[in-house]
Amino acid sequence: MSRVILLLSGPNLDQLGSRSPEIYGSQTLEEHVARFSGEANDRGFSVRHVQSNFEGDLIEAVNGARDTAVAIVINAGALTHTSWALADALATFAGAKIEIHLSNPAAREPFRHVSTLAGVVDGSISGFGALSYDLALDAVARLLS
Ligand code: DQA
Repeated sequence: MSRVILLLSGPNLDQLGSRSPEIYGSQTLEEHVARFSGEANDRGFSVRHVQSNFEGDLIEAVNGARDTAVAIVINAGALTHTSWALADALATFAGAKIEIHLSNPAAREPFRHVSTLAGVVDGSISGFGALSYDLALDAVARLLS
């Protein structure tokens, strides 16, 4: 049975493709997810993707992953900078946890310089556009090997 990676996408990531393409690129979320899932399948993982614009949905997905997933890869969108509740949920997940961003929040507005999630994940990957997803998959595979 293949091991499950929960891929989480937070608010407004459903708008990728048309949302600020100069910052986030022109690929849609579906394209990122399809690529990530395909590469994950090649490495023996299956992917469950949840996108929501609601904080509680993401928290419930994290809590539901506790006994079903071996890793969480999360782009929490702007909740990255505000959600201590999501951080608390992630802190209780024992598997591999990677925070990703398409852009480099540290090089942007000051409110993006804080991540509530950074302290409860194994590591953060930011600023590589679509490559951030590939690097996150590499990190998961290595952390679990
Ligand atoms: C983002 C960065 C966040 O600051 C922003 O709110 C997003 C996208 C990224 O992938 O670069 O929604 O997480």
